[in-house]
Amino acid sequence: MATATGESPDKALVRSKKSNAVFDARSRDLLSRFIADWIKPRWRELLVALALTAGLAAATGAYPMVIKFSFDNLLEGDVGWLPWVLGAIVIITLARSVLLYLQTVATQRIVLRLTADMQSTTFSHLINSDYARLTRDTPGRMMSKLTNDIQFIQQATLASMNSLMRDSLSVIALVGSMFYLDWLISLVVLGVYPFAVVPIVTIARRVRRNATRTQAGLGGMTSLLAEKLGATRLIKTFGLEKYASERVNRSFEDVFRLRLKGVSVKARLESMLEALGGAAVAGVIWVAYWRISSGASTVGDFMGLTAALLMAAQPLRAVGGLMARVQEGLAAIESVYEILDDKPTIKELPGAKPLVLDRGTVSFENVAFHYGDEQIVAVRDFNLEAEGGKTVALVGRSGAGKSTIVNLVPRLFDVTSGSIRIDGQDIREVTIASLRDSIALVSQEVTLFDDTIRANIALGRLGATDEEVVAAAKSAAAHEFILAQPQGYDTIIGDRGVRLSGGQRQRLALASAILRNAPLLLLDEATSALDTQSERLVQQALADFTRGRTTIVIAHRLSTVQNADLICVMEAGTIVEQGTHAGLIAQGGAYARLVRAQLLSDPEADNPPPGVALN
Ligand SMILES: Nc1ncnc2c1ncn2[C@@H]1O[C@H](COP(=O)(O)OP(=O)(O)OP(=O)(O)O)[C@@H](O)[C@H]1O
Ligand SMILES: [Mg+2]
Repeated sequence: MATATGESPDKALVRSKKSNAVFDARSRDLLSRFIADWIKPRWRELLVALALTAGLAAATGAYPMVIKFSFDNLLEGDVGWLPWVLGAIVIITLARSVLLYLQTVATQRIVLRLTADMQSTTFSHLINSDYARLTRDTPGRMMSKLTNDIQFIQQATLASMNSLMRDSLSVIALVGSMFYLDWLISLVVLGVYPFAVVPIVTIARRVRRNATRTQAGLGGMTSLLAEKLGATRLIKTFGLEKYASERVNRSFEDVFRLRLKGVSVKARLESMLEALGGAAVAGVIWVAYWRISSGASTVGDFMGLTAALLMAAQPLRAVGGLMARVQEGLAAIESVYEILDDKPTIKELPGAKPLVLDRGTVSFENVAFHYGDEQIVAVRDFNLEAEGGKTVALVGRSGAGKSTIVNLVPRLFDVTSGSIRIDGQDIREVTIASLRDSIALVSQEVTLFDDTIRANIALGRLGATDEEVVAAAKSAAAHEFILAQPQGYDTIIGDRGVRLSGGQRQRLALASAILRNAPLLLLDEATSALDTQSERLVQQALADFTRGRTTIVIAHRLSTVQNADLICVMEAGTIVEQGTHAGLIAQGGAYARLVRAQLLSDPEADNPPPGVALN
């Protein structure tokens, strides 16, 4: 009968391994990938930590020996042994404390190193992925993956290391001693545990699902926080404090509920193992009764067994808790691998050569582009030759596709069909670095970092000298206002440049582009925030700078582009009219209408350009 009870749970274990394993195939793949990528390379450090753990265990194990020795000799009367025992206790204690310190630091060092390495690898992979991918997720969600999710992985790894090295060692030792005391009772008792596999699997799945949701919830929360704290002006002026608090609170509540649920699911696992421990003790007493009465076992064996079982209960519970931790870690590993597995679509062809610049002619041939939805065309049938060294202006209504055209040149996106060539070379066939090195783009939304003015301008060309930075600032008519700042070029401008005016920010962006000293200049509404006076100053400075550079300039204020060599009017993603200012005015088409509309709405702003009557 005892044999039957001993066997059937084993069968249950085998069965459950087949159909209902703790880890499904997908998790096993993830786990082995994670181990191969992140754990294996650290095997040396792991070995050191393991050795320290074993040393610590040995030092701990030496305590009972010393105590046994003292008690055995205490009654003898001869105290010659006393200094030896006292010395041994001091030495063992010292060894234990040193080992404890070394073991803690060695173990923590491994997981902390792992965390930092994962963060840096994931970040550099992320920042190198497609612009389209980067704009698909909110910064908050990506931040959460790099912080919260990696934190989950760190905790799971630490728990696994502790359990695998410390708890499993004790379980093995205790089970060993149990079998030594009475193998039959041990078999019966341990036969209880395989029954735990099925509920563990069910609970583990639930933990995993919940962990995935919690991590997504944390992502949403970080995202909302970043968004709301980044929009304080809007919130203040529109009186949206209550709205913002409610919105953010809802997400705090979501995360609270998910976390609480996670805790309760995990606690269920541990209390179930606790109950099983009780069942095991009952089993011991039951079987021991037969064994002792038949004389196969002694009361001492029984006492020892019960003690070992009770001592093993804690590490066994820890192993159960580990299951849950590992599931949380796996959910996070999945989310991090989602970043690491992303393959950029904008990439270099094998053997791509650097761009060879001659005059810097940019030609668009039948370019069409859509942002993902084929039905919504952003650019179509776009043909344009921006001759080397000349300035081409793109004008047209909002949403006509002007910025899109400018973003296609540095390959922020690739054309859907057609091609863009620079001096005859398709931009998809040259190296990305050489392409982007030859372009300076001032985009419609200025981007600045919370750093000094000098550092922000120097973003245009990392490593530029101070003189070059100042020269660039002068060319962008920014030098004067920079000197008027409290610390001049060393003034810190705040997150995204909040401590500057819109026009000042634009001039810093322009200075940065000028510093880049690239042969192709793309200006998307680069001076739109400036007053007419400052804009004229910038225009004069730019006139020198753009000489000999191929420049594509976008402007709504048409007075700024009238000197362009070619003006193209865009409508619904294509060019409907092109020519010089005078030619287009004479033609009396779309451009003439735009100019007239602008003059009528703001006749004081500027002198009417030649050839345009106000009525
Ligand atoms: N990231 C994007 N995802 C999806 N659609 C986009 C995206 N950016 C722009 N669009 C769409 O593409 C079209 C062209 O936009 P684009 O920014 O090129 O216009 P624009 O001419 O620069 O307008 P504006 O003068 O207002 O800056 C618009 O209909 C816009 O809705
Ligand atoms: Mg635009």
